[in-house]
Amino acid sequence: MPKDKTKKNLKEAFSGEAQANRQYLAFAKKADDEGNHQVGKLFRAVAEAETIHANSHLRAMGMIGSTAENLDAAIASETYEFTSMYPPFIEDAVAEGEKQAERSFRLANEAEKVHAGLFQKARENLPAVESVDYYVCSVCGYIAEKEAPDTCPICGAKKEAFKQVE
Ligand code: FE2
Ligand code: FE2
Ligand code: FE2
Repeated sequence: MPKDKTKKNLKEAFSGEAQANRQYLAFAKKADDEGNHQVGKLFRAVAEAETIHANSHLRAMGMIGSTAENLDAAIASETYEFTSMYPPFIEDAVAEGEKQAERSFRLANEAEKVHAGLFQKARENLPAVESVDYYVCSVCGYIAEKEAPDTCPICGAKKEAFKQVE
């Protein structure tokens, strides 16, 4: 584990790079939608590079443990989100009348509970985790096992909105 200041810097750098990755992928999709595939490709190339930086910082922080440790970290992180992070965020959005943010927070909040449950189940069954397919709702991030539901239990999206994860 690195010394204090470097640890803080790695954490901040990891956040920035991880954020840039998702932002550039969203920008790439927008460029593609506008028919500008060259700029889309450029955004995807740089997004890929930012992932390399993010992963390198993560390794330098010593934050990739055994799968058991990683599942524990993931359970803690998902649980923090639906117990401590999103509830006050939802309240603030309601207070400020920010409908889109409120919906975004509410959907994520519900999906995080499901994520935590799936991680928990895997953690309890290590190393022989059940072989099952996962389907992710492309609207809210809800995850179904075995098959996509007719409608998403969190956001109501139709079956077609689910993507199977390889
Ligand atoms: Fe970078
Ligand atoms: Fe999550
Ligand atoms: Fe959904």
